[in-house]
Amino acid sequence: MRWLCNFRYLVGKGKIDFMTLIFNGEQLAKQKALKLKQKVLSYHAKGIYPKVAAIFFREDAASALYTTLKKQTAEELGIAYQAKAFSFTDSVEEIQAYIEELNADPSITGIIIQKPWTRKWLEVVPGGDFAKWWSSLVSHIATRESHGVNKDVDGLAPATLAAIKAGTWMQQSMVLPATARAVLSILKDYRAKVDPNFSYLTEKVLIIGQSDLLGRPLYWHIKNLMQKGASVPVAFGEACQIAVEEAQTSDKKCEVKLVGKQGLGELIEQKKSLRDFRVIISATGQKNLLHGDLVAAHSILIDVGEPQGDIDFPSCLNKADFITPVPGGVGPMTVISLMANAVDLLKNSLLELKKQTEGSND
Ligand SMILES: NC(=O)c1ccc[n+]([C@@H]2O[C@H](COP(=O)([O-])OP(=O)(O)OC[C@H]3O[C@@H](n4cnc5c(N)ncnc54)[C@H](OP(=O)(O)O)[C@@H]3O)[C@@H](O)[C@H]2O)c1
Repeated sequence: MRWLCNFRYLVGKGKIDFMTLIFNGEQLAKQKALKLKQKVLSYHAKGIYPKVAAIFFREDAASALYTTLKKQTAEELGIAYQAKAFSFTDSVEEIQAYIEELNADPSITGIIIQKPWTRKWLEVVPGGDFAKWWSSLVSHIATRESHGVNKDVDGLAPATLAAIKAGTWMQQSMVLPATARAVLSILKDYRAKVDPNFSYLTEKVLIIGQSDLLGRPLYWHIKNLMQKGASVPVAFGEACQIAVEEAQTSDKKCEVKLVGKQGLGELIEQKKSLRDFRVIISATGQKNLLHGDLVAAHSILIDVGEPQGDIDFPSCLNKADFITPVPGGVGPMTVISLMANAVDLLKNSLLELKKQTEGSND
């Protein structure tokens, strides 16, 4: 990787033509899995077992497939993963009662409701209002405030999202949504392996797609870090801690911007504005939304779209410094990030328990 850094330095100085580094999500996810498995096994040795309970909707084939993939990964890591299928026609009360059972079960350390992605289900749900239906389910997952223990392993419950917005999620023992965690891990890896001077906190960052799965929470989190710097507790790694310190002292103009359809349309109209951003993270599901002629040379492009990418890959090659492919980029990193969330929730609840025990012994 060292030669690549030097090569990129020359490229950055405009001395030679260059190539784009293509991220390998399968490889990084495997490396992370090895470390995570060690952690899980160390819990097993103490008689502590993480267990995730998943709920999915059987009519949505993609949800069934993702549930199977997540179960497989979890079990390879030593995390138990139980899944229960519901139908879109099942009553909200029935599903909520099952979530409450899981909340009360001490052997369950994390709960995930697989969000259906297919637009055709939007009006099929009881009541015909997808957003309301989704919120009525996901808001029942236990958080420390509601149940004394946090089981929101996917970081999608309204209470978790509110804490991310307020910048208090770490103090409240919560986790970021898995896809947001995946994107941050990829950026951290770029810094570690390619450019030690890179930090997303000192760059102009554009996030396209403003859903709860990625765009909004990632935007809030980065904005909080950029604004509050080191006053935000940094419990997620040395590289990020360094980046936060740099953000405070850097003269470089940093910014994070979140756009949907209209906002992107406005930026594209002023072509140059889109090229102002060094980091672009796109999560819309619109095939080939971004072409090479829209993005800046030396940009860092993260494509969250699935099953087809948002970024027109061929036209960005040899222009961007770094690009994540679809498939094999963000996808595998999201699965492993969910597992990392499961282990973090367990760690947090053990710390909480320890604090309570110490408190009662005082
Ligand atoms: N790789 C992974 O691990 C992973 C994880 C989660 C999701 N995904 C993928 O990410 C994509 C988005 O999923 P989602 O659940 O977030 O979808 P969603 O809830 O439907 O949200 C889509 C977002 O994209 C924006 N958008 C749509 N068309 C656009 C356009 N032409 N220009 C600019 N913005 C546009 C929408 O803007 P408005 O707000 O203006 O409507 C909306 O904010 C899907 O392809 C999904 O499969 C992948």
